[in-house]
Amino acid sequence: MSEAKKTIFSGVQPSGKLTLGNYLGAIRNFPILQDEYNCIYCVVDMHAITVRQDPAQLRKQTIEVLAQYLACGLDPEKSTLFIQSHVPAHAELSWVLNCYTMFGEASRMTQFKDKSSKHADNVNVGLFDYPVLMAADILLYQTELVPVGVDQLQHIELARNIAQRFNGVYSDTFKMPEPYIPKAGAKIMSLADPTRKMSKSDENQNAFILLMDKPEDIMRKFKRAVTDSDSRIIMSEDKAGVSNLITIYSLATGKTIDEVEAEFEGKGYGEFKPAVGEAVVELLRPIREKTEDLLKNKDYLESVYREGANKAAYMARKTLDKVYRKVGFVKR
Ligand code: TYM
Repeated sequence: MSEAKKTIFSGVQPSGKLTLGNYLGAIRNFPILQDEYNCIYCVVDMHAITVRQDPAQLRKQTIEVLAQYLACGLDPEKSTLFIQSHVPAHAELSWVLNCYTMFGEASRMTQFKDKSSKHADNVNVGLFDYPVLMAADILLYQTELVPVGVDQLQHIELARNIAQRFNGVYSDTFKMPEPYIPKAGAKIMSLADPTRKMSKSDENQNAFILLMDKPEDIMRKFKRAVTDSDSRIIMSEDKAGVSNLITIYSLATGKTIDEVEAEFEGKGYGEFKPAVGEAVVELLRPIREKTEDLLKNKDYLESVYREGANKAAYMARKTLDKVYRKVGFVKR
């Protein structure tokens, strides 16, 4: 946590079970830079309540995401791991940033438009304000890199615009964050409809793979995965289903796309789909087992998130104090 190290920040919502998309697009990259960077990873429970959650379920899911962070290789000695609602500076900075965010720019967020059409009976102000809270998450820690999937790019762009506006008015206050998008896996598609993103909120259970899915469920979902009428196993823009499966197989096995295409040349889906299933079973097995083990040790998890919140609050306070001073609040 030395001052000289650059800072990485990212977050995951505990709004449902984590999917293979969350893992391949984001979480997989979280531990990679632990040694070189000051890494801060948050479970964003405050973002999750922009959509109705069952309280008991939200509590359970929050702890499960934390356990999954650890199971995916995050080390609390190296990275700061915490729960967003434990560090009030996120809500505090978010209020200030609201006053430097234009209604028009927030209205253009595609995730807001998607979610408000999906939850037409609950288009609350929090849903609209979601990206400003996300900007606060990022800017509080003077973050330089934000590892996320491609769907979060627009939100990072907004965070940059807000930072730039604030810096322009008050002189340099926030570092400019950059997105860190993986070359492959930044947008894993639904297994049931490969034109749509794999999402934990999909109503069709066969559309997504969960990190905690049992091997037989993973195999069944891959065998049913939607492909196309032509049976060649090649990466191609007009073969969304197969291309998605090739990406997943390549990431799960570490083989290049060329190697995967060569391996399945002249073979059909009957061989390919179970092979993808098996590779994903093996990829997720250690994560699932480690998560199950960690969930038996609630005291340990509690010590991790408590310690993490203390460290995060200390770092966040520095930025918040600076912001409060710049906007003209009286020092307490
Ligand atoms: P969330 O919880 O929806 O998703 C967590 C991460 O998973 C990525 N992701 C995917 N990547 C590839 N393919 C997919 N199908 C897929 N689905 C999800 C997301 O891009 C994300 O990186 N707003 C964020 C949470 C957040 C945050 C932050 C992130 C709150 N504050 C600050 C970074 C920095 C979100 O909804 O993620």
